[in-house]
Amino acid sequence: MTDTSVSKGPDVRLWRRLWSEHIRRFWPLLVLAVVLMSVEGAAIGAFAWAVQPLFDTLFSAGSMDGVVWVALLIGGLFVLRATAGFLQRILVVGVGMRVVASLQTRLLSHLLTLDLAFFQTNPPGALIERVRGDTTALQNVSSNALMSLGRDAITLISLLAVMLYTDWRWTLFAMLGVPVLILPLLAVQAFIKRTSRMARAAAADLSTRLDEIFHGVQTIKLNRLETTEQNRFHAAVQAFLRPSMRTRIGSAANPAMIDIVAALGFVAVLYVGGQDIIAGEKTLGEFMSFFTALGLLFEPLRRLSGIAAQVQAAGASLERLYDVLETHPTILSPDPAEPLEPGDIVFEDVHFGYGDAPVLNGLSFTAKAGQTTALVGASGAGKTTVFAALTRLVEAQSGQIRIGAVPVSQADLAILRSTIAVVGQETALFDESIRANIRMGALDATDAAVEDAARDAEVMDFAQAFPQGLDTVVGPRGSALSGGQRQRVVIARAMLKAAPILLLDEPTSALDAQSERLVGAALDRLSEGRTTLVIAHRLSTIRDADKIVVMDHGRVVEEGTHDGLLAEGGTYARLHAMQITGAEVS
Ligand SMILES: Nc1ncnc2c1ncn2[C@@H]1O[C@H](COP(=O)(O)OP(=O)(O)O)[C@@H](O)[C@H]1O
Ligand SMILES: [Mg+2]
Repeated sequence: MTDTSVSKGPDVRLWRRLWSEHIRRFWPLLVLAVVLMSVEGAAIGAFAWAVQPLFDTLFSAGSMDGVVWVALLIGGLFVLRATAGFLQRILVVGVGMRVVASLQTRLLSHLLTLDLAFFQTNPPGALIERVRGDTTALQNVSSNALMSLGRDAITLISLLAVMLYTDWRWTLFAMLGVPVLILPLLAVQAFIKRTSRMARAAAADLSTRLDEIFHGVQTIKLNRLETTEQNRFHAAVQAFLRPSMRTRIGSAANPAMIDIVAALGFVAVLYVGGQDIIAGEKTLGEFMSFFTALGLLFEPLRRLSGIAAQVQAAGASLERLYDVLETHPTILSPDPAEPLEPGDIVFEDVHFGYGDAPVLNGLSFTAKAGQTTALVGASGAGKTTVFAALTRLVEAQSGQIRIGAVPVSQADLAILRSTIAVVGQETALFDESIRANIRMGALDATDAAVEDAARDAEVMDFAQAFPQGLDTVVGPRGSALSGGQRQRVVIARAMLKAAPILLLDEPTSALDAQSERLVGAALDRLSEGRTTLVIAHRLSTIRDADKIVVMDHGRVVEEGTHDGLLAEGGTYARLHAMQITGAEVS
C-alpha cells in the first residue's frame, strides 16, 4: 500500500477527484438542495428582521390587525423553513447514498483487478472495512458538512445582514471574540485529522480480527483459544476506542469555543446597545431584532465551526479509499495480445521469489500436450508456485513460460485463464448452492450440462441424498460438505469449464481412501485428453503419469518415468522409498 502520510496538498486533489468521478453527475440535484438550504437559512434571517416592526410600529401603535399579519408571516416563514429543510435533507442524503453506492462498486471492481500479492498483504477484514466503513464514514460526514455549509452559511449571512442593517457598530462588538478563536480552531482541526486517521486504521484492524476469528472458529474452539481471542479482540477494540474518543473530544471542543465567543459578544452588545437605547439613539424594536439575530447566529456558527473538523475526519477515509484506487495491478494483459494455441507447456529457466526469498530457481521442464505430467517434491519445493506462475497469479521474474509457442505473459489474461482449469489446495467453494458452485466453471452452461458434470465428478451420488439435491447450499467455504465432497464439486466445476489444460494441486491429499477412490475416478475422467499437470504425493497418481518431474528448492532435479527414475536411484527413488505419501503434505 502506498504512503498515506500526505500533507495538505493531496487532500484537495482527492476531494476534487471524488467530486469529478462520483459526485458531479448529481449536480442539478445538489444545486436544488442548495437553493432549498438558502430558503431554509434565509427564513431565519427574515424572522429576526420581522421582530423589529413588531415592537416598534405594531405594539406601540396598538394595531392588533398588524400583529396578526406579522404572526401569520412568522408562522408562514417557519412552515416554509420546515418544508425546505425536509426536501433539502432528502436530496442530500439521497445523493450521498448514491455516491457511496457508486464508490463501493468502483472500489470492488478495482480491487478485483489487483495482483494476488495485494491480497496477501491486505487482510480481508481490512479491505471490507475500506469498502464498507470508509465509504460510509465519508458519506455521513460529507452530507453533514454540505448541509451545514449550505443552510448554516446562508442563515449566518442573512442574520449578519439583519445585524448590520440594525447597527454595524453593535455587529463589530458582537464579533469581538471571533479572532481569538482562529488559532485554537486550527489546532483542533489538525488534532482531529491525526486521530481520525488512527481511528480508521484501528477500525480496519478490528475487522481483520473479527474476520480471522469467525473463519478460524473451529481452530479456536479445539485449541481452547476463546480467552486469548477475547483478549486480543478487547485490545483491538481499545485501540479503536482511544483515537475515536479523541476525535469526538476534538469535535466537541468546537461548539464549546463558539459559546465562549458568544458570551463575549452578548456582554459587549448589552453594554454598548444598552447605552444607546437609554440615550434614546436606538429603539427597543431595533435592539430586540438585533438580539434575536445574535441569539440565532451562534447555533449555525457552532455547526459551521465543526465542518472543518468533519472534513478532516472524512479526509482520513478518503485517503484510505484513494490509497486503494491508486494502487495499480502489475499483472496485466499485453496489448496487443498473441492468440493462444494448444501445445506443450514449457518452463525455461524460470526465476521467481516472494520478496527476497527465491522460490523458483531456474526451473525448466516441458509438459507435453495431451499428456499427464506429475510434479513431485518435498513440501516447500515450489510446486504450487509453478501453477501460480503458469496462470500468472504471480509474474515470473525472469525466464519464460510458454503454452505452445506463446509466452503466457504475451497472452490475454482472460483467455489464458479460461484455457486452464485448476483444482487447487485451497477451499474453493462459495456459500451458494452446489449447482451455482459448479456453474462457476462456465456461467452460460445449461442445467443439463451442470448436471452432467455433477454426475461425471461423482457429485450426484451425495447430492441426491440431500433433500434439496444440487440446490443444497454448501455453507461458508463449503463447510457443510465433507472434504471429499467439496473436492468433487470443484472437480465438477473444472469439468464444466472444459479447458484444454488442467492443473491439479494435490487433489486427493486431504481425503480418506474411500473418497480418494471416488475423486480419483472423477479425476481420471477429467484429465482424459487434456494437458494435465498434477502435483501429487500419492504413488498411484504419480505412477500413472506419462512423465514425472522431480523438484527440489525451485529447480528440476530429475525427470523421467516411474520405472526410469526408480532405476536411477536418485531423489525420486528416495521419495519413493518413503512411499512419497510419507512426505510432508504441503
Ligand atoms: N504468499 C507467499 N508469500 C511468501 N512466501 C510464500 C508465499 N507462498 C509461498 N511462499 C513460499 O514459497 C515456497 C514454495 O511454496 P509452494 O510453491 O507452495 O511449495 P509447495 O507447493 O512445493 O509445497 C515456500 O517456501 C513458501 O514458504
Ligand atoms: Mg503446494
